[in-house]
Amino acid sequence: MSYRTHTCGQLRETHVGETVTLSGWVNNYRDHGGVRFIDLRDRDGVTQIVFHPEAADAHGVAQKLRREDVITVSGKCIVREGGENPKLETGRIEVDAAEAVVLNDSDNPPFIPDEADKVGEEVRLRYRYIDMRRPAMQHILKTRHRVTKITRDYFDRQGFYEVETPFLCRSTPEGARDFLVPSRLQEGAFYALPQSPQLFKQILMVGGVEKYFQIARCFRDEDPRADRQAEFTQVDVEMSFVDQDDVMSTNENLIREIWREIKGQELPERLTRMPYAEAIERFGSDRPDLRFGMELIDVSEVCAQTDFKVFKGAMDAGGCVKAIRVPGGSKLTRKQTDALAEWVKQFGAGGLPICKVANGTLETGIAKFVSEVAPQLVAKLEAQDGDLICFGVDAKPATVARVLGELRVKLAHDLDLIDPNKDAWLWVVDFPLVEWTEDRTLDAGGRWHSLHHPFTAPHDEDLDKLTSADPDVIKGIKSQAYDLVLNGSEMGGGSIRIHRPDTQKKVFTLLGITDEEAREKFGFLLDALRFGAPPHGGLAYGLDRTVMQLVGTSNIRDVIAFPKTQAGADLMTEAPAGVDDKQLQELSLRVQPSA
Ligand code: AMO
Repeated sequence: MSYRTHTCGQLRETHVGETVTLSGWVNNYRDHGGVRFIDLRDRDGVTQIVFHPEAADAHGVAQKLRREDVITVSGKCIVREGGENPKLETGRIEVDAAEAVVLNDSDNPPFIPDEADKVGEEVRLRYRYIDMRRPAMQHILKTRHRVTKITRDYFDRQGFYEVETPFLCRSTPEGARDFLVPSRLQEGAFYALPQSPQLFKQILMVGGVEKYFQIARCFRDEDPRADRQAEFTQVDVEMSFVDQDDVMSTNENLIREIWREIKGQELPERLTRMPYAEAIERFGSDRPDLRFGMELIDVSEVCAQTDFKVFKGAMDAGGCVKAIRVPGGSKLTRKQTDALAEWVKQFGAGGLPICKVANGTLETGIAKFVSEVAPQLVAKLEAQDGDLICFGVDAKPATVARVLGELRVKLAHDLDLIDPNKDAWLWVVDFPLVEWTEDRTLDAGGRWHSLHHPFTAPHDEDLDKLTSADPDVIKGIKSQAYDLVLNGSEMGGGSIRIHRPDTQKKVFTLLGITDEEAREKFGFLLDALRFGAPPHGGLAYGLDRTVMQLVGTSNIRDVIAFPKTQAGADLMTEAPAGVDDKQLQELSLRVQPSA
């Protein structure tokens, strides 16, 4: 008997009368008046197999089957005797077993795929091979495969080369901690796993490759989060002789194709582009979720007319007052709004002044302190009865933005204000080139940091400002960087790069990187820029995050076959693990327990 003529998801009424062979896992079994029914599952679907006592051998095999046994069955495809099962694609037929062979029997599994939701994620990850048998996981793996296939085909059609860059390399500065690999041949020296292929892809441009892409594994030793893994995958792109629009539209078209092929959805003709300053001003975030309103409204002018100390104090110290109007938010209880006031503290807020809107005016909370300007506030915020007004107030406008930006998203989720059928895409553009370390003077270790990375080009008209001694001028330098945002999640980011060594040096100097340090860390890049580097730029987007959006999960571990836990562990293989002394000796390493 061969293993299969069809998959378990394939048979329909048109196959009735054919003798077929299926292989798969026993999903379920039950008896009915001496007849045994097996739901046979493979990655393609489930087919009901019926074992009549008359087919004695097959029936005998079926009697002994347990869940997750692996079997091959042959028999005739017939119309279901017990009536159609509309829940199954194959629900109009069944296979009347004539022969059955057990290929491998299974121990009692720690859980069965159908009941994966009854065990914790830890168990699912420890026994990932069972978890993967779930149709939902199979769908995710298939979707991920399709995304990479569409991506490869797309870039191939556009004349890109896929080039592999090394895993064992020098540190690439994307701002996270490196994973280090000790060298055996050079005692005391270490490779770093790439945080991204950034420098290699730029060197590929200097090498005349012109159009590069790679589905690249990246490693960043950061604490994992719901949308962040230490080991993740980027679709990484670099192009020569292009401007920002070329890079953005090339990638926009790819995303368009992926969404069309996989979700059957047409993206807008041209995705919205929003300058960074506007995103912060209106939404308090550089990755605003545009599926809902609740924009930040500056009410400083109105609030300046009150004597409310909290507002006055902040504004006198150079700050501002902004507010969001939360539709229907007045239904939140005192306990709930108190909890919000606690919650915002993690973003630097001193508290959360609120009031509710009723009878066309402001009530409760801080209403009594702003009563004289209530009509102006109601008008400015276009407030309606039933709304909650939340104020952000701080001496630092950046804190106000952050607090209200985070609160806006939380409230939209908590109050169900997001239309699940809506996708809001946008490019955020014109990022500042650098930002100052928060709250630190130069003496206390403060310095300028790149918002994207140190190889990002400033706008041409800002080139002269790179050497300015005035911090306000530096703050105003805009970069040719862009981020792709979907529903408040950063899907990708990139920039036009610096292709001239003199400009690169100026940026290093601005970032406090000395000539020696630059030589030591990026000498090869500076050299390459001296030997005919073409203008170039690119972008990388998170493959994991893209698949998360496509399959609708908020857990990045769902879209990675073998993910790591919050503690950075692979529960199945039990990595990381200790190594024996001999291995350490070969690497000239000794583990010094931390005190
Ligand atoms: P950046 O650091 O913005 O840019 O990364 C690009 C995209 O990669 C995804 N991403 C992650 N996904 C999962 N887990 C993580 N820990 C993680 N970190 C990043 C995000 C992000 O938008 N070299 C530049 C790109 C360039 O300039 O061309 C870079 O790596 O979706």
